Amino acid sequence: MPVGANPACYNFAMQTIIHPTINDDMVITTIAENGYVVIDHYLSTSVVTALANIAKTRFSTQEMTRAGVGKNAQAHDSIRGDSIYWLDENSADDAVQHYFSKVHSLRALLNQQLFMGLTSIETHLAVYTVGATYQKHLDQFSLTQANQLNTRKISTILYLNENWLPEHGGELRLYISETESVDILPLGGRLVLFLSADFWHEVLPASRERLSLTGWFRTRELQSF
Ligand code: OGA
Ligand code: MN
Repeated sequence: MPVGANPACYNFAMQTIIHPTINDDMVITTIAENGYVVIDHYLSTSVVTALANIAKTRFSTQEMTRAGVGKNAQAHDSIRGDSIYWLDENSADDAVQHYFSKVHSLRALLNQQLFMGLTSIETHLAVYTVGATYQKHLDQFSLTQANQLNTRKISTILYLNENWLPEHGGELRLYISETESVDILPLGGRLVLFLSADFWHEVLPASRERLSLTGWFRTRELQSF
């Protein structure tokens, strides 16, 4: 069963899905122990709908760009099929402001409790058309590629899809060990956090347009290698 088809039934002891009444301590403990956490109902339906509408509008007015892959950032349909739009933290839009205030609180919490030294977040809306995928990858590139990307410490994905059903597919497949993966449905309002350096992941094809808001909490310094 894909994780998230019915969160209330999911085995909490496995720490894969957290009940909507999740609190800060659970987020911190789960990240510290497992390196990832799934939080449902992270934002209200009205904010999620407003963010989804921004994504749909930017897509239909062709203000989105095909996402690039690797150093030369050229679009490769076979590797990555989404179109993206980078969000501006200074946007006057209420829903965008609400999103940034929530994720900055989360950033402060991670810094206080886990001393992560996260200084900023960069974030983009993404639209995957029917059948589009993002093949298995890490959000940090290898050291020989672009060192600055290694300032990405935590990946965060907020899903913006209303009434998403398991048969729509489009799961985030997160590889949690050498032999295990979990499939996380892109349910509206669901936030997934994971350590960018540690988790390979991929996006499976969906039978519906799939909307998300993907961000990375970053540290300021370049890593020394
Ligand atoms: C990404 C990514 C996963 C998702 O944008 O790097 O892996 O579920 N997205 O949208
Ligand atoms: Mn990714």
